[in-house]
Amino acid sequence: MSDTTTTGRATYNDRVVRQFAIMTVVWGIVGMAVGVLIAAQLLWPALNFDLPFLTYSRLRPLHTNAVIFAFGGSALFATSYYIVQRTCHARLFSDRLAAFTFWGWQVVIVAAAITLPLGITQSKEYAELEWPIDLLIAVVWVAYAVVFFGTIVKRQVKHIYVANWFFAAYIITIAVLHIVNNIAIPVSPTKSYVVYAGVVDAMVQWWYGHNAVGFFLTAGFLGMMYYFVPKQVGRPVYSYRLSIVHFWALISIYMWAGPHHLHYTSLPDWAQSLGMVFSLILLAPSWGGMLNGFMTMSGSWHKLRTDPILKFLVVSLSFYGMSTFEGPMMSIKTVNALSHYTDWTIGHVHSGALGWVAFISIASLYALIPKLFGKTQMWSVRLMDAHFWIATIGIVLYVTSMWIAGVMQGLMWRAMNDDGTLTYTFVESLKATYPYYAVRLAGGVLFLAGMVIMAYNVMRTVRETKPVDVAVLAPA
Ligand code: HEM
Ligand code: HEM
Repeated sequence: MSDTTTTGRATYNDRVVRQFAIMTVVWGIVGMAVGVLIAAQLLWPALNFDLPFLTYSRLRPLHTNAVIFAFGGSALFATSYYIVQRTCHARLFSDRLAAFTFWGWQVVIVAAAITLPLGITQSKEYAELEWPIDLLIAVVWVAYAVVFFGTIVKRQVKHIYVANWFFAAYIITIAVLHIVNNIAIPVSPTKSYVVYAGVVDAMVQWWYGHNAVGFFLTAGFLGMMYYFVPKQVGRPVYSYRLSIVHFWALISIYMWAGPHHLHYTSLPDWAQSLGMVFSLILLAPSWGGMLNGFMTMSGSWHKLRTDPILKFLVVSLSFYGMSTFEGPMMSIKTVNALSHYTDWTIGHVHSGALGWVAFISIASLYALIPKLFGKTQMWSVRLMDAHFWIATIGIVLYVTSMWIAGVMQGLMWRAMNDDGTLTYTFVESLKATYPYYAVRLAGGVLFLAGMVIMAYNVMRTVRETKPVDVAVLAPA
């Protein structure tokens, strides 16, 4: 593996990695606690206490922003900064700029946590934040790009390891998506109007939305996969060639799949079909990547009994495979006619979000935190194991309940009597969904409990040792 090629000795900036790593755990708990609250509100609507800032409509975007950008984003910053230094044998391009990205990103998160409950929103899903915060995101992101690519430029090894390719694609693409989708005309500090209108607005929004999934929730996490799976099993990537094919195929196909979010809308039919076809093709590179990860582990399966990090990695790859099989199926127009608007979509989202994104982040953090704080391993391996099982049961409860509820809703909504009238009213389908909402809530509580266990374990690990400020590169 390229990160074992050494041309000298280098010191790394681990301070910013530590900061982002700790905040990943903190924001994970906050974002998932809001997820649990809104899951409970769907069962007991009175839990909004008639307070505007506790209404479902305001807390739902708070949840999505917190888990995707605060939790997922912090995990991506931490791991990309760690990996780019190790695989380039070079310290981050600029410590000051790196510190700016940390504090700037925290300000963005706090600003989101204040404005969204106040109802200040652009009303674009996953791009709700208003223009002043959007501007700050753009500045922080450009600084991030300078730090990341600057480090690549000053690398001490010729080769650019594949994990960095994925991080590079995610950083560039998110900048483009964010800027294009958020072009707006401000009318006050808290209100702006997006320049696009009608179906063009919808198309731009879902070009953004789907590629946010592809590049924020997938490409960067694949960067983690390509670094931490080989590290954990102590073997090189199964096929370096496959990883390069995986990279180019994934980034070139993802771009075109966005219209599958707009089936049966006023978007031109050919564009919907194009989105469907590219989504189906996307199965191939996604599974190529998953298989590359699994094959890298072959010969190490016995370690699963004792290594909880490996358990998290195996399950995350399995969910990556499952959600990237399910997604293409849901993009087939006739299947989407059943799944759209139902909880099936929510099941799909969380099999990707909890199973893939959260699990690979958790595995990476468990591998990173002891190293960052000068220890050989986490304070308690048994607690890591407990976390693994509790969270896995949580995901299974969450995802299966939503799958069943979703298919049931879709079938109930389309059921017709002989005389052409609808068999069920909407309220009947809602009543039938209640038990599944209860199961989903239980799953969410378990997943959150796992995160709390992790936070305790991290705290004990950090406390037990003296932090080392700068790790010195060990010769290969
Ligand atoms: C080959 C890969 C994938 C394809 C083709 C795909 C396809 C789809 C489709 C067809 C929908 C339903 C659209 C609708 O009816 O509104 C959807 C929704 C969604 N998917 Fe995927 N998916 C893939 C992988 C993933 C992964 C790995 C994740 C998460 C990490 C993910 C996150 C989401 C989200 C968040 C939504 C909901 C968007 C919204 O309506 O707010 N997808 N996906
Ligand atoms: C304890 C864990 C979690 C719980 C209990 C939870 C709960 C929920 C609930 C109740 C919704 C609203 C569903 C609806 O409107 O019908 C939701 C939406 C969503 N959640 Fe979570 N969530 C959790 C973790 C996560 C994580 C870790 C991520 C991402 C990394 C995530 C991403 C999303 C997304 C993207 C949506 C919007 C889906 C859509 O619009 O189709 N969630 N979540």
